[in-house]
Amino acid sequence: MSLSRRALLAAGALAPLLPRRAAAEAGLIRRPIPKSGEMLPAIGIGTSRRYEVEPTPDKVAPLEEAVRRFVELGGSVIDTAPSYGTAEDVLGKIFAKGDLRQKVFLASKVSASGAEGGRAEIQRSFERMGVDVIDLVAVHNLIDTKTNLATLRDLKDRRKIRYVGVTVWRDGQFDALEPVLRTEPLDFVQVNYAVDNRAAAERVLPLAAEKGVAVMVNVPFGRDRLFKAVQGKPLPDFAKAFGCETWPQFFLKYVLGHPAVTCPIPGMAKVAYVEDNCAAARGRLPDAAERRQMEAFIDAL
Ligand SMILES: NC(=O)c1ccc[n+]([C@@H]2O[C@H](COP(=O)([O-])OP(=O)(O)OC[C@H]3O[C@@H](n4cnc5c(N)ncnc54)[C@H](OP(=O)(O)O)[C@@H]3O)[C@@H](O)[C@H]2O)c1
Repeated sequence: MSLSRRALLAAGALAPLLPRRAAAEAGLIRRPIPKSGEMLPAIGIGTSRRYEVEPTPDKVAPLEEAVRRFVELGGSVIDTAPSYGTAEDVLGKIFAKGDLRQKVFLASKVSASGAEGGRAEIQRSFERMGVDVIDLVAVHNLIDTKTNLATLRDLKDRRKIRYVGVTVWRDGQFDALEPVLRTEPLDFVQVNYAVDNRAAAERVLPLAAEKGVAVMVNVPFGRDRLFKAVQGKPLPDFAKAFGCETWPQFFLKYVLGHPAVTCPIPGMAKVAYVEDNCAAARGRLPDAAERRQMEAFIDAL
């Protein structure tokens, strides 16, 4: 510690800053992948829409800055898909220099139909991102699930991918998802869940917990839906008890408060969003009674 900082501390000048700073430096909450026990930081980056930019240095630079800050804060999960425009190419540019790839848990998807189509699409994902191994590949929106899962299991056996999963993002897909969760051996499921969109908690999340399947939560803000709902409204006082300082933290801590959830993956393409959202994965999470209070607050808006 520098003398001046020590002197300031002795004088008590930095005291009010300390709790906030200590919280900011604390590690992220980590949750196990049930099938392996591997621990994952409980917040990830979603790359749809905002990472779909022209993969030129000037367009990639701010996204690289967001990813770097995320990793600096202890984050590792990044979710992408071949169908997210140029997002995989952009990640390829970000991974091309430095050691970010080694620090990231990389999740992509397959959305082509047919064995050949699926294999070709996954092969292109490896090439576009310039990686030898993809940590997780999930069947996107249950497209040709049986065929694609067979391909993914083969790739897992050959150690080209480490985990296999499926994704949905609409409540209307839950009827089709349920038998897949019941009958297929899966490592991950990705599902829509938010404080104002709680249908997944009725059947999908309990079933995932029962089957030992890790849960990634997509659209945890409903894109702009929740932000619009709380626009101009202050955070309720009760949210301070579990460390919420912003609305995004309120929305993410709600999701993380569900014991079956492994990690929400909000879209975050800005350093400020990364810092804000990572703070949700630190400190205390709301308990069951507090989560009911959060639901009631949002329902009453
Ligand atoms: N079927 C599937 O597999 C499926 C479907 C949908 C999504 N996903 C995955 O889930 C991820 C998340 O979904 P999403 O990005 O569509 O929706 P989302 O996470 O609910 O919302 C993301 C948007 O919230 C805003 N935001 C994020 N952090 C913020 C903060 N701290 N403060 C203020 N605003 C903030 C940003 O809006 P602005 O950029 O407008 O400022 C951002 O684009 C996707 O990126 C994708 O990886 C998967």
